[in-house]
Amino acid sequence: MNEDPDVVSRRIARESLDRDDPTGWFEHLYAAAADGSAVVPWDRGTAHQLLREWVEESQPDGADKTALVVGAGTGWDAELIADRGYDTTAFDISPSAIQAAHRNHPDSRTHYRVADLLAPPAAWHHAFDLVVEIYTVQALPITLQAEAVKQVTQFVAPGGTLLVIAAARPDDQPDDAIEGPPWPLTRSTVQSFTTPDLHLIQLIQSPSPTDPDVLRWRAEYLRD
Ligand SMILES: C[S@@+](CC[C@H](N)C(=O)[O-])C[C@H]1O[C@@H](n2cnc3c(N)ncnc32)[C@H](O)[C@@H]1O
Repeated sequence: MNEDPDVVSRRIARESLDRDDPTGWFEHLYAAAADGSAVVPWDRGTAHQLLREWVEESQPDGADKTALVVGAGTGWDAELIADRGYDTTAFDISPSAIQAAHRNHPDSRTHYRVADLLAPPAAWHHAFDLVVEIYTVQALPITLQAEAVKQVTQFVAPGGTLLVIAAARPDDQPDDAIEGPPWPLTRSTVQSFTTPDLHLIQLIQSPSPTDPDVLRWRAEYLRD
C-alpha cells in the first residue's frame, strides 16, 4: 500500500459525492478495504462505546424480541445486540460490508442483509422491538437526512425502543459550513426522530474519549 489509507478513503467518498452518488462510495470503500488498499475509518473492531454503555445500564433482555441494526457495517454492534438474546437483523447498503460481517462473525446468529435505508423492505415496517442506528444518518448528505430519519423511525414496533448514536453539532452552525461526510446531527435533527407515538425518553451528550472537542449524542426513544 503506497498511499495513506485515510487519504484514499476521503478521495473515494469525494469522487462519489461529486458524481451525485451519495451512497455509492460505501461499497467502493469496503471493497478497497477488503483488498488492503484503504481503511474503513469507523470500523472499530468492537461495538461502539456508547452502545456498550447503554447495554450495561439498561441490561436489555432480548428473549423473544427482534432487533434491527441500521447501516451495520461489519457487524460489531449487531453482535453485541444478538448476544443480549435478540433475534437480530443487521443491514447495510454495501455488499462488501455484509461479506466482511460474515467473515468477522462466522458463527453468528445475526441475519445480515444488503438493503437500502432509503428504500427498505416493506416487511420491516413497525417490525422491531429494538432499532439501533449508529452514524448512518450523519453519513448521508443533509438533504437526505429527513427521509433517512423517517425510515429509521418506521422500523420501531409498538412498545419498541429506538437507540440513536451520532456525532453532534451546534444548532446554529449553518449546513453549508460543514464539509461532510460526516454531517453531524443538530439537536433539532435528533428531536426529529420523534413522532406523536415515538417519544424521546433520554438524551445524553458526551465528549469522545479520543477527542474531547468531538461531542456525541446518545438518544433513546420509546414507541407507545
Ligand atoms: C459511518 S458508517 C457507520 C457504520 C456503523 N453503524 C458503525 O457505527 O460502525 C455508515 C454505514 O452506513 C452504511 N450506509 C450508508 N448509507 C446507507 C443506506 N442508504 N442504507 C443502508 N446502509 C447505508 C454504510 O455502508 C456504512 O456502513
